[in-house]
Amino acid sequence: MSTSRTLNNAKNNGVHNDPYPNSSHIPRSASEALSRPAPRSKPLTQAQRDFLASALRVNQAGELAATLIYTAQTPVVVASHPHLRPLMKHMYDQEAGHFSTFNSLIAKHRVRPTAMYPVWTIAASALGWGTAIMGREAAMACTEAVETEIGTHYNDQVKWLLGMAEQMEASGEQLGDDIKGLISTIRRIRDEELEHLDHAVENDAKKAVPHELLTSFIRAGCRGAIWVSERV
Ligand SMILES: [Fe+2]
Ligand SMILES: [Fe+2]
Repeated sequence: MSTSRTLNNAKNNGVHNDPYPNSSHIPRSASEALSRPAPRSKPLTQAQRDFLASALRVNQAGELAATLIYTAQTPVVVASHPHLRPLMKHMYDQEAGHFSTFNSLIAKHRVRPTAMYPVWTIAASALGWGTAIMGREAAMACTEAVETEIGTHYNDQVKWLLGMAEQMEASGEQLGDDIKGLISTIRRIRDEELEHLDHAVENDAKKAVPHELLTSFIRAGCRGAIWVSERV
């Protein structure tokens, strides 16, 4: 089973027990609405707030890194493979959109950005430039490796948030619009990351030499960066 297929299966599993799949929870009539007890809303627990702060912090850092990787790769890759310009621009534009989304969320919820910001800036630019000079296949293998980790990372966040939503609903609490919005935002971004993964594989990421060593190294680096950014 391909990596992207695995992630897509994981994605489907993650949304399986979605408590808000459509509008089925919206009462159809006023009498139906009145017969239901009004949902309560109470402040998030400290553990929930801690999770959300660390999720926004690591997501913002990851999207910064993604924009820098493509910024460094694009001129080198496009110089020798001009036909890849639209694809590189498309992926960069989506990453810039993700970065802007998490910049807004981190400001809105007054979450501290990671203290590792300067380190990730240098590391991501070096990774982008280094893989681009190795060639088109290595640049694509970089995207394959990064998006494999990031797709799983976002999927885990969606599952955690859906679990929280389920618990809140079970105890008669109302899920705030902020949380509902965050779930749908992370799902959309996850799907776009998985689309990048598919583009990379379609563009010969697996032909990079040495593919296994390169992708294992980058994936380990991503997992380390995620672990650190969630905490620092
Ligand atoms: Fe992204
Ligand atoms: Fe991406």
